[in-house]
Amino acid sequence: MTDMGSRHRFTFGLWTVGNPGRDPFGGPTRAPVDPVESVAKLAQLGAWGVNLHDEDLVPWGSSPSERDRIVARFKVALGESGLDVGMATTNLFAHPAFKDGAFTSNDRRVRRAAIGKAMRSIDLGAELGAEVYVFWGGREGTESGVAKDPRDALERYREAIDVLADYAVEQGYAMRFAIEPKPNEPRGDNFLPTVGHALHFVSTLQRPEMVGVNPEVAHDTMAGLSIHHAVGQALWAGKLFHIDLNSQRIGRYDQDYRFGAEDLKECFLLVRLLERAGYAGPLAFDAHAYRNESAEGVWEFARGCMATYTALAERARHFDALPEVQEALAAASTGELTVTTVGGDGAPVLKAEADSLDALAERGYFNERLDQLLVEALMGVR
Ligand code: GCO
Ligand code: MN
Ligand code: MN
Ligand code: MN
Repeated sequence: MTDMGSRHRFTFGLWTVGNPGRDPFGGPTRAPVDPVESVAKLAQLGAWGVNLHDEDLVPWGSSPSERDRIVARFKVALGESGLDVGMATTNLFAHPAFKDGAFTSNDRRVRRAAIGKAMRSIDLGAELGAEVYVFWGGREGTESGVAKDPRDALERYREAIDVLADYAVEQGYAMRFAIEPKPNEPRGDNFLPTVGHALHFVSTLQRPEMVGVNPEVAHDTMAGLSIHHAVGQALWAGKLFHIDLNSQRIGRYDQDYRFGAEDLKECFLLVRLLERAGYAGPLAFDAHAYRNESAEGVWEFARGCMATYTALAERARHFDALPEVQEALAAASTGELTVTTVGGDGAPVLKAEADSLDALAERGYFNERLDQLLVEALMGVR
């Protein structure tokens, strides 16, 4: 064991290190990885846990006795390696029956089967001790918008999450739910495209306290948004139950690069935010090795994700401890943003203060200096 994971609870999806390099233009470039091998290898590298879809562990079509044998073997591997299961989820996107959606398919029979599959998968997650259960609506969306009234689709989505939350509570499972937004891919337009959409959706549920969000760096980046702001809003709402870390360039297909492979500055801001907020949930890497890597490259990828997070957390602490940064933050009036704006003052006082706008326009906020300090701290030259 390295000490990399001693403070941070780093996790990897079985589907991430198990990604065989398939893409829309070509088949796999790597052999499938046995989940038992992934667990052993990730433990060696210092990860805290793993995440899984039902089908990452139990292939679709397995008989009940096969399922039990596979799960028992996996539990032994978890026990031997000391790894935990951070998050479990349902594969509601691979089966061809989900081509029109799962919880939002126009076919009621598909919607019912999807809820049933999720119930079975929640049972599996509970059996493995998952603390968070994620809902990523891979197929919930449209290519042809005329085929679904989004209001009806959202109503059915809400119904499904309500039914499943009741189910988990009735079974006595301790897990919390997290909705994972994504703007597109695989659908042309997915429902619940951003963290903001998901946060509002949660507020409409019957058990809103049980449901949070699972933002992903790549997903809000695909939408051209700041993941730093998205995660900030989730934290502010008390709804950051889980997070998927990876990297992505704006305007590209869903790349799923190693955390920190792109936009280190945004990664720095994100890690600094998570550290300062004391986020203690799992830090899940939802990414995969480049397609041109062999099997060894996968473990280099996994090591890199954790090393970069750990290094950014150290850089963030270093940055905030620098006296020149403290001065620059004060010059930018960063702390003043934490002071209530109005206090006890009434409308006459505030109306009179509107006259000060011309004078207030004179000042600068010294963001050039502050931002350059960030860049220099990030480069290690300060
Ligand atoms: C994606 C998503 C998925 C989900 C996973 C767990 O872009 O494909 O990020 O990897 O996170 O299905 O819900
Ligand atoms: Mn993703
Ligand atoms: Mn992806
Ligand atoms: Mn994800």
